[in-house]
Amino acid sequence: MTSSDIRKKYIKFFIDKGHKEIAPAKLVPENDPSTLFTSSGMQPLVPYLLGRTHPAGKRLVDSQPCFRAEDIEEVGDNRHTTFFEMLGNWSLGDYFKKEQLSWIWAFFREELGLPQERLYVSVFEGSNGVPKDTESYEIWKSLGLSEDNIYFYGVEKNWWSRFGAPDKMSVGEIGGPDSEMFFEFTQVEHDPKYGSSCHPNCDCGRFLEIGNSVFIQYQKQGDGSLKELSQKNVDFGGGLERITAAMNDAPDVFKTDLYESIIQTIETVTGTKYEMEKEKMQVIADHVRGSEALIKDGVIPSNKLQGYILRRLLRRSAVKLRQINKDIKLNELATVVSDESVKAVINEEMDRFSRTLDQGLKEITKIESIDGKKAFDLHQTFGFPYEVTEELFRYKGQEIDREQFKAEFEKHKELSRTASAGMFKGGLADNSEIVTKYHTATHLLHQALRDVLGPQVFQKGSNITSERLRFDFSFDRKLTDEEIRKTEEIVNKRIEEDLKVDRKIVNPSEAKEIGAIGLFDEKYGLEVSIYGIGPGFAPDSKAKDQRDRGGYYSLEFCGGPHVEHTGAIGKIKIVKEEAISAGIRRIRAQLA
Ligand code: SER
Repeated sequence: MTSSDIRKKYIKFFIDKGHKEIAPAKLVPENDPSTLFTSSGMQPLVPYLLGRTHPAGKRLVDSQPCFRAEDIEEVGDNRHTTFFEMLGNWSLGDYFKKEQLSWIWAFFREELGLPQERLYVSVFEGSNGVPKDTESYEIWKSLGLSEDNIYFYGVEKNWWSRFGAPDKMSVGEIGGPDSEMFFEFTQVEHDPKYGSSCHPNCDCGRFLEIGNSVFIQYQKQGDGSLKELSQKNVDFGGGLERITAAMNDAPDVFKTDLYESIIQTIETVTGTKYEMEKEKMQVIADHVRGSEALIKDGVIPSNKLQGYILRRLLRRSAVKLRQINKDIKLNELATVVSDESVKAVINEEMDRFSRTLDQGLKEITKIESIDGKKAFDLHQTFGFPYEVTEELFRYKGQEIDREQFKAEFEKHKELSRTASAGMFKGGLADNSEIVTKYHTATHLLHQALRDVLGPQVFQKGSNITSERLRFDFSFDRKLTDEEIRKTEEIVNKRIEEDLKVDRKIVNPSEAKEIGAIGLFDEKYGLEVSIYGIGPGFAPDSKAKDQRDRGGYYSLEFCGGPHVEHTGAIGKIKIVKEEAISAGIRRIRAQLA
């Protein structure tokens, strides 16, 4: 069965159980400074898991492309990837354990026909004041699973939150006990390197996790305890790559149809068979597939944030290519993808790296012992991402002092705190007060630009950190100093007026009728959330378009969060205006 058949069957199965299919989110979250990438299906749904009404209802299903930067170094085996597609279904305070476990069991057993004796499940054994999940255990038994196929594990294995176990969750974060499903590849021998005996959560590769039902019902409190949420949610996620491997009894996700042509191309360009250089080809295949998805979502290689992760993926792939075949031209990497604009971005990055790669590799052979300072020189002079150098020396049995590298890096660039967090931790600050202020300022900026430049201005993207806002919009020429000054003046005037910020749930046609603007997802269909900034529905404005907007100065589709009154923002200064591609401009602004 192909991956596309599995995806279709899954979506249909849950639609038949009363779910609405929702559109997947972009890989780079809009206006979410708490993370660099969408790394699970639940991420865009956090506000709804916390109790906000979702426009599509209480039962949702989708297939969400995900990127997990923290797994880069895990890639190079039969199952780890940075980029993957997660099949997901959710109950937002609707059904709970009984329905979820029965349905997911029916999906794997009856829809897909996976053999019962090769399916195992795990259940939470209890800890941190959360009881042992005997309810799930009893449900699994009632579905016909033998006791031998049900395992209990603690918080390290059977608790899910975006940050892991309860003690790693930040205040306000949600999570809960989970129940995972595993498929056993009986043809894979247990590797004693991973423990004397094999079990579903063993890392030897005999078992593959193919699904995870998380019972999201707790929120971390300031005193470290876990509080029950007002609604009990189900959050299921299953990796399409792994389910496809199980369905085809192929104990290697890189042998599924999702990677078939990628691996074949890598074999052709390197003149080497997959079986000879598995680990390196797995890295290249994953990284190029991930890069393609990131580039399509607007990321370009750079030294910061998402751009740095993309650069790391591409340069690490280039090093692996050269290690397989030292004569290979780096622009061969782009032949792995089909999209012409993605090829162009990869080629440009390979051109840049190929000027220094060979010299850098030569230099590395000369270095007898590495330290943070030398790693920084390799980064500075030859463009070697720190992690690539780290990996190359790890092969030689040498570790680098990362703190020393960081200190050296910060000495040479006045790297901002958030950029540095993005480079070194793969994540950003929390959803703080300052970010909320920037978010509301972005709405004012959008409308002010339309006032000054005309209604052809439309938001194309935005990104906010605790240090600045970035706003991309359609416009075909550079802004004059006067236009920038005027825009800034309007935004600051609206802030001074201390306008109130309202949220309304309306249907899309109503929202369009009253002139709401912004990025919004047609697929949600039923109802949308809009934010209005201004005196509100008492249209006394002389400006016709503001009258149309029901008296609001700005009216946008948006999920929030926002300040309650614009006065809370403070003063805004536009610090940069530039082109990012044909017809698209970017503004950076900061709190003055
Ligand atoms: N959020 C859970 C996971 O990522 C299940 O969807 O595994």
